[in-house]
Amino acid sequence: MFSLVVLAAGKGSRMKSDLPKVLHKLMGEPLLEYALETADKLAPERLVVVIGHGREKILERFSNRKFAGDRKITWAVQEEQLGTGHAAKIGIDALDEAQEAGSVFIVNGDLPFLRTATLQEMLEKHASSSSDVTVLACTKSDPRGFGRIIRNEGEFAGIVEEKDADEQTANICEVNVGTYLMGVDVFNKNYESTNTDNDQGERYLTDVVVQACRSGSRVETVQVADENETAQVNSQAELSAAQRIMKDQLIVNHLEDGVRIDDPSSTYIEKGAVIASGARIHPFCVVRAGVQIGPGCEVGPFAHLRPGARLEKNAKVGNYVEIKNSRLGPGSKTNHLSYVGDGDVGARVNIGAGTIFANYDGTSKNQVTVGDDAFIGSGSVLVAPVTIGENSMTGAGAVVLRGRDVPDGGIVVGVPAKTHKQDGNGDSGDCQN
Ligand code: UD1
Ligand code: MG
Repeated sequence: MFSLVVLAAGKGSRMKSDLPKVLHKLMGEPLLEYALETADKLAPERLVVVIGHGREKILERFSNRKFAGDRKITWAVQEEQLGTGHAAKIGIDALDEAQEAGSVFIVNGDLPFLRTATLQEMLEKHASSSSDVTVLACTKSDPRGFGRIIRNEGEFAGIVEEKDADEQTANICEVNVGTYLMGVDVFNKNYESTNTDNDQGERYLTDVVVQACRSGSRVETVQVADENETAQVNSQAELSAAQRIMKDQLIVNHLEDGVRIDDPSSTYIEKGAVIASGARIHPFCVVRAGVQIGPGCEVGPFAHLRPGARLEKNAKVGNYVEIKNSRLGPGSKTNHLSYVGDGDVGARVNIGAGTIFANYDGTSKNQVTVGDDAFIGSGSVLVAPVTIGENSMTGAGAVVLRGRDVPDGGIVVGVPAKTHKQDGNGDSGDCQN
């Protein structure tokens, strides 16, 4: 039996930001989301997350997150950020007696690429080698920013933080990734012997491992071959480096799923976007987290699909179009220079160039509903809340005022839009509503 503790209480001072580090977004999702996803898939007996700095914001974002099999997170609070060892102790103290008899993973919350399969490998090695502590290690081309692993005749002999390392130690390329598996009893026994006598004046989790090693416990390592998997985020520079790696990985996943992406280098698709095979993304598009794109759809070039955008089968979104929190029904098109916000657009609708869904009145956001087969003339402004009926039409430049619904089959023109009466001389009559 094993539990898992995620360390997420740190301020992340090196980010130079008020936002807690684990809330910084990587391709649309906070760093902590990645750790929770990996942990959830491993199905630990108990999942503890240690929070501290900015914990209200973390709880606001994550307290309703759903986990597999209704697993719940145990939130443990580290009031003062006294180091990774201290944070781990708080997490482990949140376990109950049954779990204390087992093992515990301790995972840093700033490792967004860590895979569940790697944690499984650690479990296997831990069991097969009967080790007391299993440490995740990686030999990096650039080890900077990581604790270095010290070996003695090949055997694990310690971890030295970069800030405490002399030149020779700093040249070691094998690093501590920041993920550990050990018996809860091993942690507790060795924690007491650690101190804060180091460069940062903190209680290091790494010292618990060193202490265990010194007192004769068996410490083994699992090596991660792919350096990218061990990228951590301590600074804005590392976040942006991680963003580049993650962006490419997400694109590869979509390509493997059969999405046509004309120019991966200029395409930005955030985590959690769902794109059907056969859809096509032209260059220079931004597709935000959670966007859904159906089969046969085309997007871009230069389109921005924001959260809540849902394109149904064969819908088309052309250049300089922004869509937010809106459905575009099957076969509907918005090909040029438009904003579709808080809209529900039916099937086979044509949204003319330069159309604006005026969804915000300065206080609240309202919806624009457009029925099937409607034709929205170029430069129309649809002021929400308003409904444009099925098979109806707005003339070029029409401003349809809020609440002035256009009936099914209706035709409106002008500013403000009025019903267009076809009386032979082309004049418009009064608005009927
Ligand atoms: C840590 C390791 C280092 C390793 C690196 C890799 C220690 C002492 N050092 O350094 O050997 O190479 O990770 O990822 O552990 N946290 C708390 N409470 C605290 C301090 C930190 O919860 O008081 C959390 C942070 O939110 C973060 C995690 O612990 O998610 C790791 O802390 P971080 O400051 O990133 O440690 P590193 O300096 O990267
Ligand atoms: Mg770190």
